[in-house]
Amino acid sequence: IQHGRPQRAPAWWQGARERLLGLAAVGTPAYAYHLPTVRERACALLAVAAVDRRFYAIKANPHPAILRTLAEEGFGLECVSQGELEHVFASVPGIDPARVLFTPSFAPRAEYEAAFAHGVTVTLDNLEALSRWPDIFRGRDLWLRVDLGRGDGHHAKVVTGGAASKFGLALASVDAFADAARALDARITGIHAHLGSGIGQPRHWREVYAELAAIADGIGTVDTIDIGGGLTIPYKPEDAPFDVVAWAEGLAEIKAAWPRYRLAIEPGRYLVAEAGVLLARVTQVVEKLGVRRVGLDAGMNALMRPALYDAWHGIHNLSRHDAPADMACDVVGPICESSDVFGTGRRLPAATAEGDVVLLADAGAYGFAMANTYNLRELPREEVLE
Ligand code: LLP
Repeated sequence: IQHGRPQRAPAWWQGARERLLGLAAVGTPAYAYHLPTVRERACALLAVAAVDRRFYAIKANPHPAILRTLAEEGFGLECVSQGELEHVFASVPGIDPARVLFTPSFAPRAEYEAAFAHGVTVTLDNLEALSRWPDIFRGRDLWLRVDLGRGDGHHAKVVTGGAASKFGLALASVDAFADAARALDARITGIHAHLGSGIGQPRHWREVYAELAAIADGIGTVDTIDIGGGLTIPYKPEDAPFDVVAWAEGLAEIKAAWPRYRLAIEPGRYLVAEAGVLLARVTQVVEKLGVRRVGLDAGMNALMRPALYDAWHGIHNLSRHDAPADMACDVVGPICESSDVFGTGRRLPAATAEGDVVLLADAGAYGFAMANTYNLRELPREEVLE
């Protein structure tokens, strides 16, 4: 036990096996979302006094019940497409557009027009949009996303900063952007950076704040500093939970040094990943050349993260939770791709057999949101547990 590190509580689903088996009986694959866990994660962030504005990055999981839960807790919502914007206004009736952020990447012109028509805050991350479509941005308040010259994250494919990344305005172009905005009578009121996803080092965000504050000082019209999302969660049993206390202390310190800005965050994963599980059924258990494979009726189409990022998700046989996990196996899906593997060298009970219900843990973020119908497999069902 490391002193001062937060300890992990048992996952919610360990006390909900019967309900989950009941949901699986209706049909698999199925995602189940536990709203009390979403609320609990929201409260952990609401307790961080240095943060003034909280936006939930809905791309992680746009289920309407989750959006409403987080909106009720006081979170704003961050969108990256017109589809997400329309979905937010349809799912959370009456939400104040001032609580909605539009942070697109390489979006077509019409999406910016739609965003302003909705009255939401728009973040730009290049000069091209301003100079090609001046009429859209004339006289507006804008947020500016910058590239601080480096990225971070759990996998190269989720790093969103540095020369190899498509996101953000290079620091060398900030002055030119500010000049172009001024010429259009537009005001840069927010400055934003999001360096990547799945970051565990709490000091990351205080450093981002410090760098953004220095830029904001130079611009002069900024009132809000948005330090992005990216907070990780513990996927593996040996992972420590994200250290919210250390994170909060770092933010309090750096904000005390630059008190004149409002501090905004936009996490996705942290709020919803642990609240969601994917339920699947065993289809076949096959041994080939010394490797035993447990096949599921959910594949990389239902949960892409392992195939895409070699991401690790806990895998448990819910039907035989009392049996020791004494069999080494690979866990695979039914998709015709060699990357359709949820885990290798995992342990499940030796009696694991066709029809058993298997749970893939921590699948509430970037699970259903990235699911697809490849091989003409149906999308998973989604269920909400109050
Ligand atoms: N803000 C911006 C501008 C973002 O691009 C993202 C995520 C977030 C906030 C929320 O990041 P979070 O707190 O969830 O890390 N599909 C990948 C993650 C892609 C993240 C994309 N942008 C995964 O499953 O790991």
